[in-house]
Amino acid sequence: MWAIRSGAGWEVHAPAKLNLLFEILARREDGYHEIETLMVPISVYDTLYLRRDSNGEIQLTCQWAAAAEAQAGRLGDLPTDRSNLAVKAVELLRARAGIEAGATMRLVKRIPSAAGLGGGSSDAAAALMAANLAWGLHWSVADLSTLAGELGSDVPFFLTPGAAICRGRGERVEPLARAAPLHVVVVRPPAGLSTAEVFRACQVADRPHTTGPLRAALESGNAAQVARLLHNRLQEPAERLSPWVVRVRQAFETLDCLGHQMSGSGTSYFGICRHARHALRVASYLRARALGSVFAARSC
Ligand code: C5P
Repeated sequence: MWAIRSGAGWEVHAPAKLNLLFEILARREDGYHEIETLMVPISVYDTLYLRRDSNGEIQLTCQWAAAAEAQAGRLGDLPTDRSNLAVKAVELLRARAGIEAGATMRLVKRIPSAAGLGGGSSDAAAALMAANLAWGLHWSVADLSTLAGELGSDVPFFLTPGAAICRGRGERVEPLARAAPLHVVVVRPPAGLSTAEVFRACQVADRPHTTGPLRAALESGNAAQVARLLHNRLQEPAERLSPWVVRVRQAFETLDCLGHQMSGSGTSYFGICRHARHALRVASYLRARALGSVFAARSC
C-alpha cells in the first residue's frame, strides 16, 4: 500500500491479498479463532482519494472502476454509508485523535467484496493512512495498526508493505524481509460467503501446518515449492457452504497450474502459474468456463 499527493488531498493504492497458508490453531473465548496465515498483496487494487473537509463532514462516494463496471453486479455490493469500513476507519481515527476535522473520500473499486481478498480491510487501512496524512496527525504505523486491529482482523496487514505472516486473530503482523513475485490467476465466483459463517463451520487443526517452509520457499523464489505448500483450513467448510468453490476447484484441477486453493474465507480461488504468459492463458481458459470474474495478477 502506498500514498501519493493528489491535488488538495491524497491518493492511496489499496491492494487485494491472497492467503497462501491459512491455519486455525484454536477457538478463543471472545468468539474469534487463533490463526496463523501467510498473506501476499497482489496487483489488483482499489484507489482511495481523500481530502480534508473543513466543515467536519465525513463523506464517501464509491464506484466500480471502468474495467470492472460491466461486471458490477457480479463483484458484490458497494456500501457508501456508515457500514463501509473506510468510513468507520476515518471516524475512529478522528475520535481517538480528539479532533473535529472531516474528510471527503472517493473510492474506485476493483476488488470484489465477500471474496476472501481483503478488499474492505484494504480500503479501511487506506482510509487510516490517508486521513493520518491529510489531517497532519503523524501517527506511527504501529499506532495506526492498533486502531486497524479494532476495525478488523485483516486491516493491520495492509498498513505494512509486502508479504507477511499474521498471527493472533490475524492482527499481529510479521512482515517478510523479501518475497519473490508470483504469477497468479484469481477467480471470484458469482456468489460470496460470509466470513463469520465459514469460521463457524471450521475445525481446529489436529496437526497444524506451519508457515516456516512456505516462508523459505517464497523468500528463495521457488514458486513450485510455494505451490506444493499451499494450505487453507477454511476451504473444506467453504466447500460445504458454497457449490461455487467446488466448481472452481474442479476447473483448476483440469489445468496445469503449479498449485491452487481458495483465499481466506472465500469464495475467491487462485492458481499459481509458471510465468505471466501462462497466467494469461489460464485466465482466458477460465473466463470461457463462466465461473465468475477472472483476474490475472502478480503478487507484489
Ligand atoms: O475481524 P473481522 O471483523 O474481519 O472478522 C469477521 C468475523 O470472522 C468475526 O466476527 C469472526 O466471526 C470471524 N473470525 C474469527 N477468527 C478470526 C478472524 C475472524 O472467528 N481470527
